[in-house]
Amino acid sequence: MKHLLGTQDMSRADATLILDTTAQMAATQEREIRKLPTLRGRTVVNLFFEDSTRTRISFEAAAKRLSADVINFSAKGSSLSKGESLKDTALTLQAMGADAVVIRHWASGAADRLAHSGWMHGAVLNAGDGTHQHPTQALLDAFTMRRHLVDSPEGKGLDGLTVAIVGDVLHSRVAGSNIALLKTLGANVVVVAPPTLLPFGMASRTDISVHYTLDSALEAHDLDAIMMLRVQRERMTGGGSGFFPSPEEYTRLFGLDRARMDRMPDHAIILHPGPMNRGLEISAEAADSPRSVIVEQVSNGVAVRMAALYLLLSGEEAPSE
Ligand code: NCD
Repeated sequence: MKHLLGTQDMSRADATLILDTTAQMAATQEREIRKLPTLRGRTVVNLFFEDSTRTRISFEAAAKRLSADVINFSAKGSSLSKGESLKDTALTLQAMGADAVVIRHWASGAADRLAHSGWMHGAVLNAGDGTHQHPTQALLDAFTMRRHLVDSPEGKGLDGLTVAIVGDVLHSRVAGSNIALLKTLGANVVVVAPPTLLPFGMASRTDISVHYTLDSALEAHDLDAIMMLRVQRERMTGGGSGFFPSPEEYTRLFGLDRARMDRMPDHAIILHPGPMNRGLEISAEAADSPRSVIVEQVSNGVAVRMAALYLLLSGEEAPSE
């Protein structure tokens, strides 16, 4: 594996290696001194064309804990906002000796373009491209589920677990990456969305169960985990407000509240990638309940990104391409 672009083509062996390495990284983060010398002398560039809080900080923390030098390059306040092309930016990064570039971009496919352009030689890590993929988010979600729901998780997948992904699946790169990875790791995937927020063709897939209300999904499945997606209003262009009738209606049909939470098995956990719209897709009671692992997802994010940077840059035990 030279780059981390998406989860669609990731083998189960590679995914498991990343998750196992994440467990090792997470263990180092419990020590008093959390910094490892592993990537000393390597340069990681965070190239962010789109706003981000936790993903950018998380990649930065991960690279620094591995002793890499980090350069943050965001569209606001740089030549990117003057319209500099991805190509010229890549040539600049190459000239500066970037060993890895973490890219977030509003265009689906931007990370693949950068990786396969020949403009630069370093590893490319996709931190979210348009509505396409966000692989480190899916990996941190899988890691969080494995920790809570699988006994002796080392070397294991998510076989037989039932995971629901609820909400704006159409615009969500988190859903895109999660669906592929969950299938690879052996989970049963339940997708819950209004028909207008479901990607074309998903309803006819035989390897996924689709529901058009959260109540019908809770009725039909004993869920082990439920992943609530943010309603991505900023991506709902073109369709106007026609993607769903009103926020109240959305909450009524798809929101996770106390009553719906109580219908899940006792061990079931609640995930959300953040940022949350409290009161829209998730109630404060659900977000702050003991079942919620939302804050833990953030700390696991640092460990996953440490693992990804380590595997791509250290040259040791790197998974096969
Ligand atoms: C997600 C993203 O940006 O794709 N957030 C994140 O990375 N934590 C999800 C979202 O914005 O809804």
